Amino acid sequence: MPSRAHLVDTHGRTVRDLRISVTDRCNLRCTYCMPAEGMPWLPHEQILTYEEIVRIARVAVECGVTGVRLTGGEPTVRRELATLVRQLRALSPALDLSITTNGIKLAEMAAELREAGLSRVNISLDTLVRERFVQIARRDRLADVLMGIDAARRAGFAPIKINTVLMRGFNDDEIVSLAGWARDEGLELRFIEWMPLDFQQKWDREKLVSAAETHDAIHAVYPLEPEEGDDPSAPARPWRYCDGKGRVGFVGSVSNPFCGSCDRIRLTADGQVRTCLFALKEWDFRALLRGGADDGAIEQLMRDAVLRKQPGHLIGQAEFRQPERGMSSIGG
Ligand code: 5AD
Ligand code: SF4
Repeated sequence: MPSRAHLVDTHGRTVRDLRISVTDRCNLRCTYCMPAEGMPWLPHEQILTYEEIVRIARVAVECGVTGVRLTGGEPTVRRELATLVRQLRALSPALDLSITTNGIKLAEMAAELREAGLSRVNISLDTLVRERFVQIARRDRLADVLMGIDAARRAGFAPIKINTVLMRGFNDDEIVSLAGWARDEGLELRFIEWMPLDFQQKWDREKLVSAAETHDAIHAVYPLEPEEGDDPSAPARPWRYCDGKGRVGFVGSVSNPFCGSCDRIRLTADGQVRTCLFALKEWDFRALLRGGADDGAIEQLMRDAVLRKQPGHLIGQAEFRQPERGMSSIGG
């Protein structure tokens, strides 16, 4: 039972999920996320320490948060990540503690992260074609990602989810091959619609491949049926392969927003709480912590932030403004 009142917003949503970006740095340079060079990294002194992160997470858990996801940038490039996992695990044995990673460092880290108490891993992979991987990520690391997936499996993580962002004319011809590969490997693939979050603001609606189109392409080859017991706050609508070979998901972030059941808040690496990926306002927890605030003040700021959580994003509408931060400094 949470020892503090739940975090409820004015639209009746309760916050259950905290996404923590532990670094804005990355060992890839995906074109839809970062420029090739000259990315302005956050200065070290602005990055929250593990102690500060755990303090905020503890208050959030006391307010009824049941899931914590570590993101980046690329979370595995932050030193001693397993130490943070161990400290977060100590908050609650029931905490759903997960990570979103590009997988490159899992070959060396998966077992240690598992042992430290990580519950689940999501691995981002947009193509199985080496040349394309190099083109999109600007690094020749596909083999490392595949080894990382293997290591995660050997470490006992299950299910392992794969996040794929499709872009028309780039990897939309791989929808079926990616699905076939994931089925054979026992991985749960989730296609995420490309959102306007790139640092260079080059998003182009024309290049978005919708969740519905992706579903139909797969269904034509591997028939699908909707999964029962659908969690309404889960962004990926889960589907089951009719032949029993696992599941696949489609995240219609743009074409079919799930804002109405969103249960998330985000903590950036530099200690700002955002109540939406597309929020234009941030809440400065770093200043609060470093100013010597007590837990009650942290809880109060969390409540203030959540109370002002907007009903949803406005992508596609005239009022939409892309946040200044890109995905890598917000956390996926
Ligand atoms: N739109 C959708 N997904 C994105 N990701 C990064 N940038 C975008 C974007 N603009 C994905 C990554 C990773 C997760 C953190 O978010 O591929 O899976
Ligand atoms: Fe790194 Fe993820 Fe951005 Fe790619 S999308 S550059 S893996 S943070």
